[in-house]
Amino acid sequence: MQIQEVLALIREDMHRVEEEFRRNLLSDVYLIKRVGEYILNSGGKRFRPLMVLLASRLCGYGGQLHIPFAVVVEFIHTATLLHDDVVDNATLRRGSPSANAIWGNGPSVLVGDYLLSKAFSITVAQGDLRVLSILSDTTTRMAEGEVLQLIKRSDVNATEEEYLHVITNKTAILFSACCRIPAVITGLSEEKEDALASYGMSIGIAYQLMDDCLDYTSRAEDLGKSVGNDLKEGKVTLPLIKTYRDATEEEKRIIRDAVEAEDVDSETLNKVLALIRKYGGIEYTLEFAKGYINKAKNCLEHFEPNTERAALSAVADYVIERTS
Ligand code: IPE
Ligand code: IPE
Ligand code: MG
Ligand code: MG
Repeated sequence: MQIQEVLALIREDMHRVEEEFRRNLLSDVYLIKRVGEYILNSGGKRFRPLMVLLASRLCGYGGQLHIPFAVVVEFIHTATLLHDDVVDNATLRRGSPSANAIWGNGPSVLVGDYLLSKAFSITVAQGDLRVLSILSDTTTRMAEGEVLQLIKRSDVNATEEEYLHVITNKTAILFSACCRIPAVITGLSEEKEDALASYGMSIGIAYQLMDDCLDYTSRAEDLGKSVGNDLKEGKVTLPLIKTYRDATEEEKRIIRDAVEAEDVDSETLNKVLALIRKYGGIEYTLEFAKGYINKAKNCLEHFEPNTERAALSAVADYVIERTS
């Protein structure tokens, strides 16, 4: 199944989700509406709502709660992007200037807080304590992941294990929640709930692994955000961990200097890129991602083969094929 067919399956539901985005941004405070609408209108793949909607179909869910929960996960995601761009000094997001580049750090942080609070008030209004518990654990772990990443900044000796721990928390845990929640609201067995949660977790890890590859290999025009930003921010991701591990002492020094530098010019970025190429850092990371994609697909075996299962399998393939 192609990703376009997958999108067609949930088109109507996604339309309702988009309408709910707007409805939930109707604050009397002008700046909240302005910044919130700016970032939500600037695009984004809506990958997390897609997971909620598709997983709900796989579960045979017959109610209406999948719509508000799809809104909630995108609000949580958007809040973390607003905060993340402040922390990462990012100037471009979704092909437009980032909110912090336009309004500054203060509004970005505060509107991020608003979106996060809104996500929880929408959740509470649905009256499902189990989902509330999943989402509050999720955001707690996401914050831990981001803080852990901050602590590890500029540490070229970061291990694969530490890196995986960071990306599991900051990214994959939300994907896992997106897939677990539909099983919870449908009342499926623990076996199926766990299978969907671990499908989401593996997808999320692969998604961040690919994002970390694209940060080195893509172009800003395709990605909608600046490339080479991870190196600039001293973020040591898997392509670099692998390269540093295999590099000679002289090459290690080049990498260390780049990671610790206040500013990385294009010449330095190209030098590091050449080393990543020499040691196959991208291929290595891609292999890792493929492993997680296979793991994700195996989790789907707990469900009967049908269109929805094929769609979630196609989503898994898309994660490692995407270029933006
Ligand atoms: C960006 O997420 C942050 C990561 C976890 C990699 P997306 O790549 O899903 O961002 P949008 O929502 O499509 O802009
Ligand atoms: C993802 O990490 C951060 C979140 C989970 C919010 P990145 O810092 O790599 O995300 P991008 O590349 O800025 O989208
Ligand atoms: Mg970032
Ligand atoms: Mg990134």
